[in-house]
Amino acid sequence: MTVNIAILGLGTVASGLPFLLEENKEKLVRLLNDEIRIKTVLMRDEETIAEARERGFDYDFVLDLDEILADEEISIVVELMGRIEPARTFISRALKANKNVVTANKDLLAIHGRELRKLAQENQVSLYYEAAVAGGIPILRTLANSLVSDKITRILGVVNGTSNFMMSKMVGESWTYEKALSEAQRLGYAESDPTNDVDGIDAGYKLVILSEFAFGMSIENDDVQHEGIRTITPMDVEIAQQLGYVIKLVGEIVEVESGVFAEVSPTFLPQKHPLASVNGVMNAVFVESIGIGESMYYGPGAGQKPTATSVLADIVRLAKRIQDGTTGKLFNEYVRETKLASPADVKNKYYFSVETPDTTGQFLRLTNIFTSENVSFEQVVQQKGDGSRAVVAIICHRIARTQLAQIKEKLMAESDFKVLNVFKVLED
Ligand SMILES: NC(=O)c1ccc[n+]([C@@H]2O[C@H](COP(=O)([O-])OP(=O)(O)OC[C@H]3O[C@@H](n4cnc5c(N)ncnc54)[C@H](OP(=O)(O)O)[C@@H]3O)[C@@H](O)[C@H]2O)c1
Repeated sequence: MTVNIAILGLGTVASGLPFLLEENKEKLVRLLNDEIRIKTVLMRDEETIAEARERGFDYDFVLDLDEILADEEISIVVELMGRIEPARTFISRALKANKNVVTANKDLLAIHGRELRKLAQENQVSLYYEAAVAGGIPILRTLANSLVSDKITRILGVVNGTSNFMMSKMVGESWTYEKALSEAQRLGYAESDPTNDVDGIDAGYKLVILSEFAFGMSIENDDVQHEGIRTITPMDVEIAQQLGYVIKLVGEIVEVESGVFAEVSPTFLPQKHPLASVNGVMNAVFVESIGIGESMYYGPGAGQKPTATSVLADIVRLAKRIQDGTTGKLFNEYVRETKLASPADVKNKYYFSVETPDTTGQFLRLTNIFTSENVSFEQVVQQKGDGSRAVVAIICHRIARTQLAQIKEKLMAESDFKVLNVFKVLED
């Protein structure tokens, strides 16, 4: 029996599926004893249907989702339109019509994942989304299956290819943020409005999904703190290098006694850290756990074939479940009460870059502020000033987020100090 699927939207990722199905035909038939066939594709209008036909695609093209929902031959609906609406409504309707759903839509899952998973369960169908995090890296299934026996304590991820491409240029070739952005836009890596990528929003969506699989906790998108790469200057990059670090936009979810804490922030990574060598548009997820210890999953975070490969993996898994009569199981079955960490429990080292008057006594003033919060310095660098202003860069020992907030407040209260940047520093 053929497994018939319908695709919603025939863009970059969806157009990679026919190639993979053809190249992998023999393997898939061996695995399933069945063929997977794209039967129907939902298009936006007649014009896009005509264009698709011109590009050589030959499917049943429809403009109305109801035609797919009413087709009993179709058991899997693959949403590859992106964005929130109408994807949310279409997926909800497909689940209610007892269709299994595959999607790569991280934005939608981060914001409405809980509601969609509930709908899938209520209707005894499955919702899979391997491609939603780090495109071509099979990280979700690895966490759900292979790491089921391990207790994960922290996840660190370089999970936004656009910002990582830009940071690689800013670090490796001393480019400014503006130059890196315009090159990323020229190459098609960054959109004309790059906000989601450069401000850490996209990476935050992925942390919400990773937290489900790694910690069994469904955190809200708003629970992820995020800070982007816009404010990073060549001076920060240079100081990081002098002190033995590389700056990258890193997503972190850590479990401490009181709960989980998730944030996306520019981070000083020790040059020896495996994530420090993840460059260009590549992605990596670094997992710390009590059993394996440290492991890293590296690969292309986007792109037509890598992403379509993850989408097809979900389709094949679902086809198997349909054959076995086991649909309706959650993609990730590890679910527990969501508890957010108290800021006093979350501890890190931090880099502070502070502009001060270029006169004697400033260093003492800075020391007094840090000492008043019981915080000592680990490394200090003073950049040559212009005669009137100087920049002091400090890396402090491990402090709690509560202490961090106090120090920032005290530094900002000094009218002749200017806090240029404060970034997290990962320990060796
Ligand atoms: N590209 C990647 O490398 C990558 C990696 C990981 C995850 N993803 C995720 O995969 C999904 C698809 O991404 P993509 O890069 O393939 O996007 P894309 O190239 O923009 O494709 C989306 C397609 O859906 C069509 N579409 C939008 N609304 C529609 C509607 N109401 N009815 C019918 N068709 C509609 C679009 O048509 P129009 O062009 O007419 O709007 C377009 O052809 C997104 O959720 C994305 O976040 C992508």
